Order: sequence, then structure tokens, then C-alpha cells
Amino acid sequence: MKWGFLLTINHGTEVKVINCKVRLLGTTINVYAYFVDGMLIDSGPQRMKQEMVDFCTLNRPEKIVHTHYHEDHTGNTPYLKHKLQIPAYIHPDSLKICRQKGRIPFYRFAFWGNREGFEAEPLPGIIENSHSRYEAIHTPGHTPDHVVFLDRNEGRLFSGDLFVHHKTRIVRRHENIPLLMESLRRLLKENFETVYCAHAGVLEHGYELVKQKLSYLEELQDQILSMSNNGQGSKDIARKLFPQTPTITYFSFGQFSSYNLVRSLIEDRWQ
Ligand SMILES: [Fe+2]
Repeated sequence: MKWGFLLTINHGTEVKVINCKVRLLGTTINVYAYFVDGMLIDSGPQRMKQEMVDFCTLNRPEKIVHTHYHEDHTGNTPYLKHKLQIPAYIHPDSLKICRQKGRIPFYRFAFWGNREGFEAEPLPGIIENSHSRYEAIHTPGHTPDHVVFLDRNEGRLFSGDLFVHHKTRIVRRHENIPLLMESLRRLLKENFETVYCAHAGVLEHGYELVKQKLSYLEELQDQILSMSNNGQGSKDIARKLFPQTPTITYFSFGQFSSYNLVRSLIEDRWQ
């Protein structure tokens, strides 16, 4: 677990990074939360509770904004809200989900811990801080409520789980990848340089990487649709294109898999 100061920029808008590394059954996942100009972007999983509480006690966020409702992004919000009286904001579609304790499968609990219920306010389209202004852009696909935060002046994009990797090989069962691709296309019309990803960390040439991710997914979709049109099923296609099954696929009982990626690229494209 570590905190870091990444950039020193005038007017108190430096970005502070809170990083947690979780290792389980041969799989390591990084998770990052960010703090800028009084705004905490995601509160991290319960597993990093103590570090997050220490960080927030020292830095006193004025608000918590969330990229989406998953427990590795909202895990500490109930405690921070209660303990430090910090208001929390999330996309309106997730207000109801967040009122209840997370209902998550075992593998997610093992990685992150769960999340208690909390009351949030609907995220506004524009977030005005003391020295900065962020636009919350709806980018569904990973989840229906997913948003990213863009500072047009600084060219900064806090991307939650929209990016994660430029060559995605496994996804969750309910991710809608064609919809995520639409979100990437829309985002690439914007100007930004540095991407602050919740799992890949700070990406200095983030725009290029987002572009690479979209190209990769477009090529992959063409290939998969061609195989599907030739009569191959999703499971066969996944086996041929991604012959190595990562441990997390077994551990999650298939909830995190290459098959989900293939299936979504075929079945979700008309929605
Ligand atoms: Fe997520």
C-alpha cells in the first residue's frame, strides 16, 4: 500500500495517488484511487480501509465522486461518509444499488471485501472544485452507470474501469463490450493526454492507449464475427483465440473470462 505525489501543478491541483495491490491465488490486481483539488475519485476496496481513512483524515476531501458502483470503487465510502461527514456522489442509476450492502460473488469478496450500504447524491454533469472543473461523462459498458471525469484545461481523464488494459482478454459476465466501444469512440473526440486508470495507474500517453484499445477491440470483433458467421460457437472461438485460461477464470467460476468477451462482442452488438 502506498501513497504518492505524482504531479506538482500550480493552484493546488496536484494529483495524489492511493495504490493498493491485492494478491490472491497467483493473481495480482492493482487498484488506484485519486485525490485532486479536494475531490476523492473512488474510495477503494474495504481491503485498503485503514490506509484510505488515514489518507482522508490527513487530506480532508470535500467530496467523494465515484466512477461506478463496484465494491473496489465504493468500498470505503460508507465509513468515510459516516466518520468524516464527506458527501458522496454517484451516477443516478446506482443510487438504489448503493443503499444496500453489496451482493457480490465470493471471488470478488475474497479480493476486495464487500461494501456496506450508503446514501449518495446524484452526480452532477459538471463538478466545480476550488481550482478546477471536471465534466462527468457517462461511459457505459463496463457497468451501465460508469462515468469518467475530464478536466479539459489540464487534459486529465480519470477513467475508472473504462480502460484497464489496451488488449482486453477477459471481462466480467455482464459487461457490454460493444457499448464500451461506443463510449471509447465518444471519448476519443475529446482532448486529453494523461489517463488516471483505476487498475493500470497513471498513463502519460493515455489518449494513444485508449485509441489502441478501441482499434484492438474493433479488429477482435471483426475476427470473432467472421468466425461466428462460419458457424463456430462462442466457446470454440474463445478457446481458439485465447487458449490460455487465467487462474481468475477458474477462481470466479467463469464470471471473469475470455468467453464473456467473445459472447458480448457477438450478442450485445445490436442493443
Ligand atoms: Fe469495475
